[in-house]
Amino acid sequence: MILKKLKLRNFRNIEHCEIQLDPGINVFLGNNGQGKTNCIESVMFSSTTRSFRVLNDNAMIKYDCPFASIECTVEDEGKKFVLSSVIHSKGKSLFISSKQVPKASEFVGKLNAILFSPNDLEMFNISPKERRKLMDIEIGKISVKYNAALLKYQKCLKERNHALKMDCDVLLLKSLESQMIEAQVQILESRMIFVEFLNRYLSSKMKQLCDEELHLGVKLKSWVDLSDKSKLKEKLTERYEETRERDLLLRVTGNGVHRDDIEFTMKGIPLNEIASQGQKRMVLLSIKLCMIDFVKLAKKTCPVLILDDVLSELDQNNRVRLFKVLDKSVQTLITTTDLDELKESLVKSPKIFRVDNGMII
Ligand SMILES: Nc1ncnc2c1ncn2[C@@H]1O[C@H](COP(=O)(O)OP(=O)(O)O)[C@@H](O)[C@H]1O
Ligand SMILES: [Mg+2]
Repeated sequence: MILKKLKLRNFRNIEHCEIQLDPGINVFLGNNGQGKTNCIESVMFSSTTRSFRVLNDNAMIKYDCPFASIECTVEDEGKKFVLSSVIHSKGKSLFISSKQVPKASEFVGKLNAILFSPNDLEMFNISPKERRKLMDIEIGKISVKYNAALLKYQKCLKERNHALKMDCDVLLLKSLESQMIEAQVQILESRMIFVEFLNRYLSSKMKQLCDEELHLGVKLKSWVDLSDKSKLKEKLTERYEETRERDLLLRVTGNGVHRDDIEFTMKGIPLNEIASQGQKRMVLLSIKLCMIDFVKLAKKTCPVLILDDVLSELDQNNRVRLFKVLDKSVQTLITTTDLDELKESLVKSPKIFRVDNGMII
């Protein structure tokens, strides 16, 4: 998959831009605060219909402007299409080749992009929220069924929590639980495949990047016993029987896949306890590289790789290795403040866009 053209209007500090991208490596070069990440953010919005930086879409509209628009021309397996988004005060409108799509789910993943952003390092903090987000975003990009199951689960969870607060009938709880069990089977099956994939390939990717054997392990931790995939439904039913009393007492759903976590280990020890900041960064990069293969396998197409602010944090050896490991068929967008960071790392010359005060040339 190739992002051929990016056209922006009133997106953050970018009043207008229209650029043709290279199928290989594209570098966004500029000082801090000029609009490099803004540009990346617009591409990621076209992939996920959300910003990776803010919850409020309006923050992406240029100050004092009524709307922002993003247009991405994409080529996938010889087919060309245009993804357009307009962000305005009442929400967002999405179009695929000029035809409006009513649901964001029909738009998500049409441009498949994998992002590395330094903010993602929060994933290795204590809280599992970011790790769940990784699963939900990455699986969601390749599976409509997963997104639908997640939505259904969240809706029922909200209703169950509301019912628990209202001293409801147990029959109502049971009926919501049966819908939640169905959704959770789908969610857990997809998460298990995702985590198993990571577990299988993460160590070797890391070895390619660091030239060191670090024995990385990845495990899905859930409220239900995952040892027998064929018994998920029974196990979930049992768990509700065991926990319903407590939930009634505390008036909230204490357990479920909304509390799942992924455990990362290095040499058998939790990553957070053993890895240096630099190693965590390399693990994160390895995860993103695994995600490229994951998408390729599931969708038979190659996603676009986006690396925001990654180079300044890597040493020269790691930079050289990163570009060696990168699949040459993957279109890559990189931001940097200094071209020297790239000089010795690249075999092929990149296309360079200079970013200066919202102008992209
Ligand atoms: N809604 C907005 N309207 C206009 N300018 C904005 C808006 N949001 C952010 N900016 C500006 O964008 C700049 C930051 O751009 P960014 O892409 O994050 O920089 P960098 O090049 O360092 O990645 C800042 O100067 C900020 O004031
Ligand atoms: Mg930036």
